[in-house]
Amino acid sequence: MNSQSYDVIVCGSLHLDIMVKAQHLPRSDETAIGSEWAYKCGGKGRNQAEMAARMGARTAMIGRIGNDDFGTRLIESLDQARVDRSQISVDPTTGSGMSVAILESSGNYGAVIVSGSNLKLDPSDACQSWQTIGGGKLLILQNEVPEPINIALARLARKQGATVILNAAPARPMASELLDQIDILVVNRVEAAMLAEIPVENLADASKAAAKLTGETRDVIVTLGGDGLLLLKRNGSETTVLAEKVDVVSTHGAGDSFIGALAAKLASGATLEAATRHASRLAGYFVSLSEAEKETANLLLR
Ligand code: RIB
Repeated sequence: MNSQSYDVIVCGSLHLDIMVKAQHLPRSDETAIGSEWAYKCGGKGRNQAEMAARMGARTAMIGRIGNDDFGTRLIESLDQARVDRSQISVDPTTGSGMSVAILESSGNYGAVIVSGSNLKLDPSDACQSWQTIGGGKLLILQNEVPEPINIALARLARKQGATVILNAAPARPMASELLDQIDILVVNRVEAAMLAEIPVENLADASKAAAKLTGETRDVIVTLGGDGLLLLKRNGSETTVLAEKVDVVSTHGAGDSFIGALAAKLASGATLEAATRHASRLAGYFVSLSEAEKETANLLLR
């Protein structure tokens, strides 16, 4: 690996999130009353890149925005987080990705995404971007861009000796062509249940799901929010990490903060077990912060 290469390269989604606070999520045919709203720069890929950079990793992102105000805001957010955004391309005809997230007073949320320009990223351009910036120690992927991009990039990164992390969110059927290139698969309770096709409520279920999702070359982490997480390594060793008790303000982006922190810690040389524990602590802290506090908190102190 040459001296220009990055610790972490994230390829994936950028969304401008519209965050709405409401007493509860609306049911079908209901108009629910909200109390406030705000823009937030999001997209699982962008969030993970920001977190990796804030945790001290040299980070770059590969993605595609639209030629619009949302795109400009997303680029500015990467600059602010010190993420190299030289490989974010601009689509001339399709608008930037966006989401609407409704946050309940409990801290839980429901969201809808409109992928827009994220779907216009091209597999060979993404691979060219990886080469142009000199590759990285770790590649992070999610399921908010078309699968051929994930397959092409995972194959290239693995061939060059990088560790490939796939956050299979949102869950969708995945080709073995992709899964065979993944070193660390990270899923939450819902994604684990969908992919393993069993109910996942607790750590015992997570262990069963992980056993179905692991492979000869693949470790699996199943995150269960406040119920902790389970790591099953390809050699069969299993570690559970209990979540620290915190007052939850918002779980929005919690999984992304976990993955960004995990990657940054691995890039610094930590074992998978140590990085997992660290990322779990960080994600716990993250959900206890308001959106404003999240932007300014010194995460390196955690
Ligand atoms: O994980 C949270 C993220 O998922 C949001 O920022 C939203 O844009 C969706 O991609």
